[in-house]
Amino acid sequence: MEKGITQLYILIAKVTGLMNLQKNYSLKYLNTFGVDVIAKYFLEIHSEKELDEFIQSDLRKNEQLLIIGGGSNILFTRDYDGVVLKFSKKGISVIEQKEDFVLIESSAGELWDDLVKYTVRNKLYGIENLSLIPGSVGAAPIQNIGAYGTELKDVLHSVEYYDLDDGSLKNLSNAQCNFGYRNSIFKNELKNKFIITKVILKLSLVKKFNLSYKSLSDELKNTPEHELTIETVSEAVRNIRRSKLPDPDLLGNAGSFFKNPEMDNETFQLFINKFPDAIYFEQSDNTYKISAGWLIEKCGYKGKRIGNVGAYEKQALIITNYGGATGNEILEYAEKIISDVKNNFGIELNSEVNIIQ
Ligand code: FAD
Ligand code: EPU
Repeated sequence: MEKGITQLYILIAKVTGLMNLQKNYSLKYLNTFGVDVIAKYFLEIHSEKELDEFIQSDLRKNEQLLIIGGGSNILFTRDYDGVVLKFSKKGISVIEQKEDFVLIESSAGELWDDLVKYTVRNKLYGIENLSLIPGSVGAAPIQNIGAYGTELKDVLHSVEYYDLDDGSLKNLSNAQCNFGYRNSIFKNELKNKFIITKVILKLSLVKKFNLSYKSLSDELKNTPEHELTIETVSEAVRNIRRSKLPDPDLLGNAGSFFKNPEMDNETFQLFINKFPDAIYFEQSDNTYKISAGWLIEKCGYKGKRIGNVGAYEKQALIITNYGGATGNEILEYAEKIISDVKNNFGIELNSEVNIIQ
């Protein structure tokens, strides 16, 4: 971009109030892989008013746009030639309370785990199994975050988003979000057309837990039922996660790199006859998920390092940056995994991480 135009943008930014606009901004600390790339512009926004100003600016008209939250599900493969925007508005409040449930509203800029801690403190049941998932509240609906038998869709009431096409704020109900396993309308019809500004959850005031996930029930097997509290369940999830997931502050990663592949009953029967040791999860609709971690481990990747990249020694589904890896090195490692899993098992792995190419 020519120097004159850049300076004009900065001037307009100052006049319109987009004071936080930064040029040639390193995203190294804004993505949990720790990949060192540069955004042509970086803008942190704290209110809907600032968002309006940005939408009406020339910067919006002339540059491509990427929204970022905590960067814990993104892989940058090169510098970003456009505006990277972080919507950081915070705030959590109860907007409706009935006898047995509350509706709780959170601004998109809250950390997801801060919202979980708030609900644990206030004994609002429903997201304790989603403790310690990194990232922002705003990103949570996009892939319908899930862990230990619970998905966001189980508690989500509605989502408010800014429509980038017409500049209006819109609401989607749970049903309108078309949630699926690591999937939603935001990854399909609405892709690149929205900024999530608020998430509204319906949480229970009645004590109830979902301990259907084996590692969670194992972790709590010595806790008598009458001693189970929202704190003990949340703490159990935190303990499991700390014991097998790498801390991105110490070892760059974005959680599971791939989704667990799904199969209909017929395909599954053929598969399991051929690979009877495979780890799988039966779904309520008579379909199956195969453990991608198992497939990758069986291809010899668990703990295997190539240059600065590896599959985590305790969980092969997590690709890690040992330091200094580029996004393309991480992608090449992922592509090797895809090819080996395909050759050995005839299964095509799909990435869960959003790859920015
Ligand atoms: P980002 O990585 O910043 O963005 C993800 C996507 O959302 C991008 O496409 C981005 O453009 C878009 N986006 C972000 N915010 C907004 C917004 N406000 N409006 C519009 N678009 C937006 N995920 C799980 O589901 N379950 C897990 O158990 C889990 N465990 C993890 C463990 C580790 C150690 C790590 C590093 C990640 C894990 N994840 C897990 C993945 C990740 O935490 C989630 O996907 C999380 O929701 C990403 O949030 P984020 O704010 O970091 O999103
Ligand atoms: N397994 C292996 N080898 C491995 C890893 C796993 O054999 O290297 C087998 C083990 O038998 C293990 C089983 O797979 O018991 C399940 O492993 P885990 O409980 O870690 O779950 P996962 O299916 O690998 C999924 C999510 C995680 C989520 C956990 C817990 C996906 C893609 N990943 O992982 O989400 O935290 O379940 O519910 O669905 C994420 O999305 O980033 C993420 C971390």
